Amino acid sequence: MEKNHNVSRRQFLTYALLGTGGFMAAGLIMPMVRFGVDPILQADAEDDMIDVVGVDELTDVPQAFDMEYEQDHGWHVEQVTETVWMFLEGDEVVALSPTCTHLGCTVSWGTDADNPEQFFCPCHFGRFERDGTNVPGTPPTEPLHRYDHEVRDGRVLLGSPSPQL
Ligand code: FES
Repeated sequence: MEKNHNVSRRQFLTYALLGTGGFMAAGLIMPMVRFGVDPILQADAEDDMIDVVGVDELTDVPQAFDMEYEQDHGWHVEQVTETVWMFLEGDEVVALSPTCTHLGCTVSWGTDADNPEQFFCPCHFGRFERDGTNVPGTPPTEPLHRYDHEVRDGRVLLGSPSPQL
């Protein structure tokens, strides 16, 4: 009876040591695995740029374009459509978020009859200049966010919007 008890204790110690050793090994190996696959993850990040429109469709007047992509939530994939205001400033592509920086309503271009050359937010009469700068004296306190972009083979690809401040 006593012998069985000792064996059982020995087995317990063996399992405990194996478990602890395994846990420590995982702690050492996982960062190395992460380091090894990091370039793959970086490549995915690059491909997060979304093809939205041909440069030849842009004018110097802001137009709304749809940016469509799939968002993976882990348990399901959602089809997302975002609107982006885009125009040309000389040769430079400008892509602005339509989300008002006051409380998140949607702005549109030229819909305020008194200020046809501005973005207008109907919720609290927020206004933004053509480059997204908020008009002083209106509710928004920062410019419209601007999308990262690049032009590849005549197409405009967009990344994520960031604050202009
Ligand atoms: S949400 Fe646009 S002005 Fe308030």
